[in-house]
Amino acid sequence: MKHCITLIEGDGIGPEVTDAVVRLLDRSGLEIDWDRENAGTATAKRSGQPLPKRVLDSIIRNHVALKGPIETPIGTGFASVNVEIRRSLNLYANLRPVCNLPGIKTPFTNVDLIVVRENTEDLYSGLEHEVVAGVVESLKIITAKASTRIAQFAFSYAQSNSRNRVTAVHKANIMKLGDGLFLESVRSVGRKFKNIDYDEQIVDAACMHLVMNPSKFDVLLLPNLYGDIVSDLCAGLVGGLGLVPSANLGDDLAAFEAVHGTAPDIAGMQRANPTALLLSALLMLHHLNENAIAAHILTALNTVLRSGKVRTPDLGGTATTGEFIDAISQEMELKAPR
Ligand code: NAI
Repeated sequence: MKHCITLIEGDGIGPEVTDAVVRLLDRSGLEIDWDRENAGTATAKRSGQPLPKRVLDSIIRNHVALKGPIETPIGTGFASVNVEIRRSLNLYANLRPVCNLPGIKTPFTNVDLIVVRENTEDLYSGLEHEVVAGVVESLKIITAKASTRIAQFAFSYAQSNSRNRVTAVHKANIMKLGDGLFLESVRSVGRKFKNIDYDEQIVDAACMHLVMNPSKFDVLLLPNLYGDIVSDLCAGLVGGLGLVPSANLGDDLAAFEAVHGTAPDIAGMQRANPTALLLSALLMLHHLNENAIAAHILTALNTVLRSGKVRTPDLGGTATTGEFIDAISQEMELKAPR
């Protein structure tokens, strides 16, 4: 079956990693019609708009997007395009699986956890204003509707993926109303899932437990901001941002992207690790029911990682982004079903 997929290459290392992953997918036997759109800094310079409407229209038309990272100016400039895509398309659930990969040694073993991040509200609502000179108010929005919806997603995901426990992460000791509402909503959903254990941790303590004993965690459920921060921490447990994928999921639209950003320090050098985007693409293939091809690519990726001969610099190697992808591609050809 031929798939139409919106492709957004993004900024910084985005064009390098998307190009590499698209090359691999195109060689995998899949028939994909890439609907190439762009958004972000380069697009804003060209057209004056960081997120042209045609990008959103393309995702609505195709239902699925593969997306590179997009730069967000710090402290000034346009609002985050990443946040705007998630919010305007109602991609309310951000799923970030984090697990040890073969051959990648870190101080931690048996890490196999899922970060579920609420994707549409919290401090990402973009509601900020200067009250008087020198005083700024940033509004944190938490609603029962969005909290219940993400809780429903997390518990259903746990149930259908043989996960045993959901841990809600919060700061309701301080934000008694906002995080309190999040927790109340999660608890009332959790009561319906009798076969899934449920517990709660305050976000600061959760960070400590994560870096001391990450294998104790199963599914983590967090509001938007804590989810953003904790998922980078979790990436560090398994070898870094070059290795962790994500899916932004709505009721009938989905955008798949790496957890990492545009990595301006290595952009344009072919030093980026494309594994995170490749694993995101594999989540996308499962979403499209292309399970056999996804499994074939994952086996080849794992073989290359395990052998350790071809590695990008973040993992201590000297291979370029393209050489790493070529090694996976060769491995796929060697093991191609005949
Ligand atoms: P970053 O994730 O871009 O980089 C943090 C560190 O991780 C850097 O040292 C970078 O070299 C390294 N790194 C990231 N991805 C890598 C990869 N694939 N291979 C090897 N090393 C990698 O985070 P930073 O610097 O905080 O953000 C840079 C820009 O990216 C900002 O404008 C930010 O807003 C944007 N961003 C975009 C995201 C998205 O599009 N979903 C997510 C996170 C940040």
